[in-house]
Amino acid sequence: MSEKILEVRNVSKTFPGVQALKDVSLDVHEKEVLALVGENGAGKSTLIKIISGVHKADSGEIYYLGKKVNFKDPTEAIASGISTIHQELNLFEELTVAENIFVGNVKGFSFSKKKAFKVVSELLDSLKFNIRADEKVKNLNTSEKQLVSIAKALFLNARIIIMDEPTATITEYEAERLFEIVKGLKAKGVSVIFISHRLEEIYQIADRVAVLRDGELIGVKHITEVDREELIRMMVGRKIEEMYPKFNRPEKETIFAVENLSVGTFVKNVTFDVRKGEIFGIAGLVGSGKSEIALGIFGHLPANWSKMVLNNNELQPSKNMLEHGIALVPEDRKKMGLVLELDVTKNIVLQNTNEVSRGLHISWKKAKVLASEEVKKYSIKVTSIYQKVKTLSGGNQQKVVLAKVLRKTPRLVMLVEPTRGIDVATKVEVYNIVNRLANEGVGVIFISSELPEILGLCDRVLVMHRGRSMGILDRHELSEERIIKLATGVDD
Ligand SMILES: Nc1ncnc2c1ncn2[C@@H]1O[C@H](COP(=O)(O)OP(=O)(O)OP(=O)(O)O)[C@@H](O)[C@H]1O
Ligand SMILES: [Mg+2]
Repeated sequence: MSEKILEVRNVSKTFPGVQALKDVSLDVHEKEVLALVGENGAGKSTLIKIISGVHKADSGEIYYLGKKVNFKDPTEAIASGISTIHQELNLFEELTVAENIFVGNVKGFSFSKKKAFKVVSELLDSLKFNIRADEKVKNLNTSEKQLVSIAKALFLNARIIIMDEPTATITEYEAERLFEIVKGLKAKGVSVIFISHRLEEIYQIADRVAVLRDGELIGVKHITEVDREELIRMMVGRKIEEMYPKFNRPEKETIFAVENLSVGTFVKNVTFDVRKGEIFGIAGLVGSGKSEIALGIFGHLPANWSKMVLNNNELQPSKNMLEHGIALVPEDRKKMGLVLELDVTKNIVLQNTNEVSRGLHISWKKAKVLASEEVKKYSIKVTSIYQKVKTLSGGNQQKVVLAKVLRKTPRLVMLVEPTRGIDVATKVEVYNIVNRLANEGVGVIFISSELPEILGLCDRVLVMHRGRSMGILDRHELSEERIIKLATGVDD
């Protein structure tokens, strides 16, 4: 039995209207990977924020290296050797990658840009992250930013590294590299607390798994003594019968087609069509251009095409695709999906004002009904429909995006990483919604880095590699291996 490096004892934490943690006690051992799992809003992030000095517990204690600690802020925790990659990435957009990695990590070190660049370049190379140290963070996409945050946490020689959904925004392919790194850290004596909604990852790298439900610790198990089914039951309190429900019926008729789509420098000459009732998948690595396809079609990125047809109408590039019946569930929910400072009701209603207003007057009574319906439909965990979106857990924020975008049934919906950060039970709800949309005759473009859901859900899959289409696979041709080969460009 290895030594305890960290002990959480009887920790409770209440936010206005919700008890996020109830008397949680948990040990972290030396040289272990401890996975922390649970549904959206279960309290995972709150627990690690208490450990890392972001939040104060209402009651309970934390012991680190045998001593009681009371970090007054994250800097103190970092200095003591507890390094955290938070779910909401805290990077400075205007600074370079190298500067971001140095900021807050280096004390009493005369900061030289040249030196920082060199050190960080080497670090990124050794991690095989394909990112330039002198690139400004604002020019990176979400996944690349995630990689920068990982590099930043690794830069410090921490005893404990906490990762809050580090793989949510990177592909399995890149996650593999991260796991190699985690194994290396473990061998060096570092303990890792790892939060993820992807159970296959938990089985791949965790030594033990701790389950939170509604703020309570349900149990801690050695990974070898708990199977997937039991783990899910511990998390959601019931059994899930079908992980990838599929009941859509693709028809022959085409609902959407685009020819020779190019989007900035990201996407070149991509052609595909989507049939009525079909769930059309787009797969590819980070940087392959798969999400840019959606952004280009929607008008968020400059795009052109030789022909685009939706429901027999030819469409020209426009910034107002929503009016033409195209909806986008974006990847970056903070930038494009949500107004964090506003409450849940306003966020849902803002894109659906037609339902609740007459002229310029918004009926807040109607808005209340509408928001309550959506909160129920997507089982969004809120203390009230007037809770500010920024205080929702990560997964629940994503559900608000889905609710507001899908309320007005579009003709074509493009979902970019729609289940990112969403717990297992809710993923199944999202898949059901996607099936239902398809059956209602909506064209569905499903863009995802998670191969299991692509394989489980899609009728055909276009695979992107470096901005180009590597081909479209039919359902009977789909396999993880086939997609990875195309996505990495090794297929000949
Ligand atoms: N700053 C805050 N103010 C008010 N409520 C909060 C705040 N932070 C978290 N909460 C609430 O505490 C509960 C636990 O949230 P937490 O973020 O810990 O969940 P989580 O397990 O990390 O979920 P997810 O998987 O969605 O990230 C939720 O009900 C959330 O809305
Ligand atoms: Mg969280």
